[in-house]
Order: sequence, then structure tokens, then C-alpha cells
Amino acid sequence: MSSQSLYKVSGNIAANALVNNDQYKKMYQESIVNPEGFWREHGKRIDWIKPYTKIKKTTFDDHNLSINWFYDGTLNASANCLDRHLAEHSDRVAIIWEGDNASEQRKITYGELHTQVCKFANALRSQGVRRGDIVTIYMPMVPEAAVAMLACARIGAVHSVVFGGFSPDSIASRVIDGKSKVVITADEGMRGGRAIPLKRNIDDALKHPDVTSVEKVIVLKRTGGKVDWVEGRDVWWHSLVETASEHCAIEEMGAEDPLFLLYTSGSTGNPKGVLHTTGGYMVYASMTHEYVFDYKPGEIYWCTADVGWITGHSYMVYGPLANGATVLIHEGIPNYPSPARLGEMIDRHKVNILYTAPTLIRALMAEGKQHFDKYDGSSLRIMGSVGEPINPEAWRWYHEVIGHEHCPIVDTWWQTETGGILITPLPGATDTKPGSATRPFFGVQPALVDNMGNILEGATEGNLVLLDSWPGQMRTVYGDHERFVLTYFKTFRGMYFTGDGARRDEDGYYWITGRVDDVINVSGHRLGTAEVESALVSHELVAEAAVVGYPHDIKGQGIYAYVTLTRGTEESEELRQELRQWVRKEIGALATPDLIQWATGLPKTRSGKIMRRFLRKIAANEVTNLGDASTLADPAVIETLIETRLNRN
Ligand code: WT7
Repeated sequence: MSSQSLYKVSGNIAANALVNNDQYKKMYQESIVNPEGFWREHGKRIDWIKPYTKIKKTTFDDHNLSINWFYDGTLNASANCLDRHLAEHSDRVAIIWEGDNASEQRKITYGELHTQVCKFANALRSQGVRRGDIVTIYMPMVPEAAVAMLACARIGAVHSVVFGGFSPDSIASRVIDGKSKVVITADEGMRGGRAIPLKRNIDDALKHPDVTSVEKVIVLKRTGGKVDWVEGRDVWWHSLVETASEHCAIEEMGAEDPLFLLYTSGSTGNPKGVLHTTGGYMVYASMTHEYVFDYKPGEIYWCTADVGWITGHSYMVYGPLANGATVLIHEGIPNYPSPARLGEMIDRHKVNILYTAPTLIRALMAEGKQHFDKYDGSSLRIMGSVGEPINPEAWRWYHEVIGHEHCPIVDTWWQTETGGILITPLPGATDTKPGSATRPFFGVQPALVDNMGNILEGATEGNLVLLDSWPGQMRTVYGDHERFVLTYFKTFRGMYFTGDGARRDEDGYYWITGRVDDVINVSGHRLGTAEVESALVSHELVAEAAVVGYPHDIKGQGIYAYVTLTRGTEESEELRQELRQWVRKEIGALATPDLIQWATGLPKTRSGKIMRRFLRKIAANEVTNLGDASTLADPAVIETLIETRLNRN
């Protein structure tokens, strides 16, 4: 992270970008000094049914926390993504879709997308979905995933998208929390040449004894693979839309009415349902999409994220579609069937803007440049990175091999909770430094604090907090407002705590150093160590488990588990494999531990608290300077763990 080389804004970008550095500074200043005036103006980028007169009522004081934006206005998110474009751009392509197998291609215009959404929205109504209901969506990366989301938004239902890689248990807990009456899925999804049994996972999830709310399962026929069928419960997507009307009036939603729920991991307990509302979210998602990617009408924009993550919500669906963009959606993974796929797709579709994750770049890097020998890349103008800190080597490789040294990189820092990008370069305004997310977006006030909550000035390092609200901020943890207040506003009074650490350099640029809580980041996906631990200890042969992240070349962080077996159980390679499969089945593939170390004991304080800092260091193979072990109940435990550690190179 020591790299201080500067990549200056230059060329066409500098000449034609939406904002240059002086404009950025002026706008940023105004957004902080006069937030009401700033957002009164920029809120107009969205179509309102009843225009707002109230702009902002927010306080981070944990005793009367309040987050309200544009709060007397009304609107509909689906109308903003579709209807508003029909008069002039009905024939513009909204979605270009490429299947896992590249021979499958589709193009859907804004007019067609509008029709599909209206029909499916009517279908949802016919299945009993009403305003305010929570609809669970478990879909592959096909245009119908966006159709399902927008159809919910059209009728005022709240969608809860569950990532297609999650297990039946994970689906069940989300369905239970949201009391969904209707679940939308597909027979199967295709990823990297393999069929993913989505419908079967839903069937298994709904067998969970605590799932009592589900009345209907709507199934999209994607592959035609064989599925079990529950008469009276399961209905085919195509038979519903066949007879549905293509006229569907929009529901008039309040700015602060919920738009969607998305579950994300925290440092304790079950994933929390992050709730986003309509008005502020739409303003923020569309504005950041336009400014951060310097989006110009007609450009082809490709975000490689899955719709099951916040990036898929804000920067594949809501932001770009609100801006009338042409969005490329890819069903599969960008390095299948070979690492050349990414370059082939950029060239095939003349992609202008690419938004992807460091883990993919590192995976491609490991395969070698030769896969890009035939890659032209001349269409590409801007490239984004998201999900985890991007190491300078990967940044440079991205810049050279994919961007041919002429595409600015926007390293965008944000979270599920923030709804949109908070710290990022702007292509025409910000000179970049590999590894730094650089400066705050308009209206965003980051600060660094020490562990007591004192604000630190100048070039320094600390806990990353935000001092005031921005329109895209989450409003609550669904069903548990206490947890919302506790998680984000109590650690440092009067501030939103991100859970990240960061460094600020002499130019005021931010360098995110990673999570400072018990959350790990595997390939840009967030996982609570507590979730993996609780999956492990639910196995009958496991007495105790402690999970930490460790540096991993491709994934950023890998999962390192210390496992104590029940008395008399023999350690074996088979059991290790079994435990890995077990966690995979409990949570999903991305939670599979990379390394499992057998531990006869774990380092604990005298009061029984596991001292994770030792475990992190041993997992990282940093065993020479472990720090003060005097508070441990049994310091000898550490020696044994060091001797039997696994990650030695
Ligand atoms: C956590 C949020 C935001 C969509 C994808 C992840 C890490 C995210 C960056 C970045 C360094 C980053 C942080 C953050 N993170 N982007 N550009 N540089 N770290 O969303 O699952 O809610 O995870 O991802 O640690 O807190 P998420």
C-alpha cells in the first residue's frame, strides 16, 4: 500500500467529463455547507409524482436517530427506471444479455422491458402480492431477475433478493424474517457450465419447519431442467404472464416507503435485513452512477456483480436504468470457459464502462496476460473496482492489460448499508493512486476517529466513520431497529461507524485498510466469522470453533478455522473435508473454510473470551511478534497452535 504514484486525469476524459477537479471541489463544498440547497437541486434528477418540499431531517444522535430524505415527496422507482424513458427512448436497448454459453444472446429495449415488468407486476398481484409485502427473489442472472425486482417496485412490494449461491438454510432464514408469501425463482441457473438447482434449493428451504408464510412459488423456466412440483403452490412464470395485461398502474410511494431488503453479515448473529427506502435511494443510486462512471447517454455499461448483492441492485438495476443506460448482464462468470471471456465480451458488446471486483482481476492476473492477446479493448473508457481494497499490483494490471493505460480506474468504496458509492475518484476530476479510493462523493463527510471516538486530523489512520447522512443510507435493520442503532451509532456517539479502518494521506486521500470488526471479506463478499463458527459447531463432532480471515492471493481473504473436536473424536483428512462440505451446505459455497486447523485448545482470557488477535496472526503466519499474552488463561495453547499452523508459506 506504500505506492504513491499518481495517475493524472488526462486526454479525452479530462476534456469531456461531467466534472473537472475545480467543479468537484466547488460542488463538494456546497454539498457540505448547504446540504439542503444542494440536494433540493439534485433530487430533481428523479421524476416525482408529488414533488418534495422537505429535503433532509437527519440526526445520528443515538437517542433520537432519524434519517429522512425528500420525505414529503412521492414517486415510483419502477416508473423512474422505465416509464420516464418511453417517450423518447422506447427503442433504446435497456438490457443486453449474454448467457453462460455465449451462443445465447438477448436484447431488450426500454419499451419491451416496460411491457414485461407491467405484465409480471400484474401477475404478482394475481398471486396475492400487495403493497408492503416482502417478496423473496432467488434468481439466476437473467433479465427476468431485474423484471421481478422492478415489478415488485411497481406495485409497492418490497423485494428481498437472495444470492443464488446461498444454501436452503440461508434462504429459509430470510424467508422467515420477511414472512414472504411469494417466492420467485427459476428451475435452474447456469454458471461456469454447471446447472445450479435453484428450484430444488427453494423446495428444501421451504421444508424448514419455521417457514409458514409461503403460499406461492413462481418459477421461471430457464434451462428446462427437471423440477419437483407442488400442486397449488408452484406456478410457472410464463403461464402467469401469458394472460396478464400489459397495463399496470404504478403505486404512488412515499419517499420513505421501503423499496427493498437485502441481508448482509455483521460481526454477531444472523445476517441483518438492511432496509432501503425509495426516494433518497433512487436519487443517490442514479446520481452516483452518472458521476462516478461519467455515464453518457448511449454508452454500454457492464457491471459484473450478481444481482444478489447491493452492487447488483444499485449499479446493475436501479442506478443505470434510472439513467436510461444500456446495461450488459452476463449470466455466468467472466473467466469461463477461459480467462479470455472478459475481453471477448468487452469487444463483442463494445463495452464503454466496466465495473468489477479485485478478486476477478487477481484471478485473471494469475492466468497470465496471454489470454488478452486478441483483446482489442478500444471501446473501453472507464473502469471501476469494488468490494475490497485493490492491491496496487492488481490495480496496475487492470490499468495496463484491460484498460490499455488510457482508462481511469474508479476504486469505489461503499457498503450494503450505504446504498451507493461514498468514497471514489471521479474520472475527470480526481488524479488516482493505485490502492486508494481517494475522496468523498458529494454530501459525504468521512472522518477518522481513534478508539475513544476522538476525531483525528491530517494525515493519519483510524476507524472510518461518517459524520452526517446521505440520501442512499439504509434506514433500519428490518424488524430490529435496536440492532440498527446499536451496530452503527453506539460505538462512536453521533457518528455512523462503517466497521472499516482507513488511512488518510497528505493529499486527503482515503486508503481503506479493511474491516476492524469480526467480519471478513472473501472475494468481495462479506461474512461474519460468527456465522461460520455457528455452522461449524452445529456439527455433532465439533466442540468449539474460532474463525478468522487470513491473506489469500486471489480471494483477498481466505477463511481459516480453528476447530476443537469433541472428546474422543479422531482428527482426520476425511473429517476436515466433511466439515468444509458441512459449512458449504449450511451457508453456501463462499463460506467454505479454506484451512481447518485442529486445535486442542483456543487462546482465551480468564473470563473465557477468545483472543482473536492471536488467532489472526497465527493464521497469517505472523508468529514472531505476537504481542502480550499475559492475559491468557493458558499461554501454552499459543505454542501448540503455532507449531501446528497450516499457512506456512
Ligand atoms: C465492505 C462492504 C459495496 C458493494 C460491495 C461490498 C469493503 C467495499 C471497497 C473498496 C476497500 C471495500 C469494505 C466495506 N469494501 N468496497 N473499494 N475498497 N474496501 O458490499 O458486502 O456490504 O461490504 O466491503 O470493508 O465495509 P458489502
